[in-house]
Amino acid sequence: MQNEYTEERLSLALAPRTMRYIPSVGSTNDIAVKWLREGAPDGAVVIADEQTAGRGRLGRTWHTPPGMALALSVVLRPSPAQVGGLTMAGVLAIEQVLTTLNLPNLRVKWANDVLCDGLKISGVLPEAIWDGDTLVGGVLGMGVNIRNDFAGTVLDGLATSVEAQIKRPVDRVSLLAVLLFHLDSWLGRLGTEMLAVAYKQKLAYMIGQPIMLTAGQDDVSGIVLDVEADGALVLQTDDSTLRRVYAGDVTVKKSGA
Ligand code: BTN
Repeated sequence: MQNEYTEERLSLALAPRTMRYIPSVGSTNDIAVKWLREGAPDGAVVIADEQTAGRGRLGRTWHTPPGMALALSVVLRPSPAQVGGLTMAGVLAIEQVLTTLNLPNLRVKWANDVLCDGLKISGVLPEAIWDGDTLVGGVLGMGVNIRNDFAGTVLDGLATSVEAQIKRPVDRVSLLAVLLFHLDSWLGRLGTEMLAVAYKQKLAYMIGQPIMLTAGQDDVSGIVLDVEADGALVLQTDDSTLRRVYAGDVTVKKSGA
């Protein structure tokens, strides 16, 4: 499909939302953080066709070649009590929009990922911006692989894209509009039990499972006991300590492993 993104199509599809379309950026999150500080309104969105320095969780790189993906960052003005829910709202909205496309075996993977058939199809990168003790606001970065070809790359066998799964072209502008519609609805529930319960339900398959958590240098092996209302994963580690974690990579161990 030819590049569906034009300033005109995007602003029509997303009206009346305040938006900036920048064909090529370093990272949409960086632009959104700057815009937040300059006074962008709640819900303003930065969209890029290409990112040359896209950022993933845990300091990783996120590749967004031109024409291949959704890469966007939403400026938000939550209260300090609500800011922890941004990840939940983001992954729930992505999972919901991908469900409408009938992608097979969709799963939310704690904490920020959506998988399709066990392969990563999307990730979110929330950032809270503080001036000392004052919360300036939040930025919710979202990346969805639409037609990336991972064959022969380091992500071969680890990542997939929407079109590779459903074998037909999708229009990124329409998908973006639906994604933001669902996102608004989850963001309206920030700080509520409903949001936390919906997130926990998507992760219910992990409860009781033996997992390996990698967080920086620190590898922890244990059983998942719970996903708490603030998004924390509660683990009983192999040495029977209770641990509450907020970030890291989780691998569910195969039984007997
Ligand atoms: C992850 O799974 O590691 C999070 C990936 C988040 C990627 C998105 S793409 C749009 C926004 N801009 C960035 O630099 N990163 C996020």
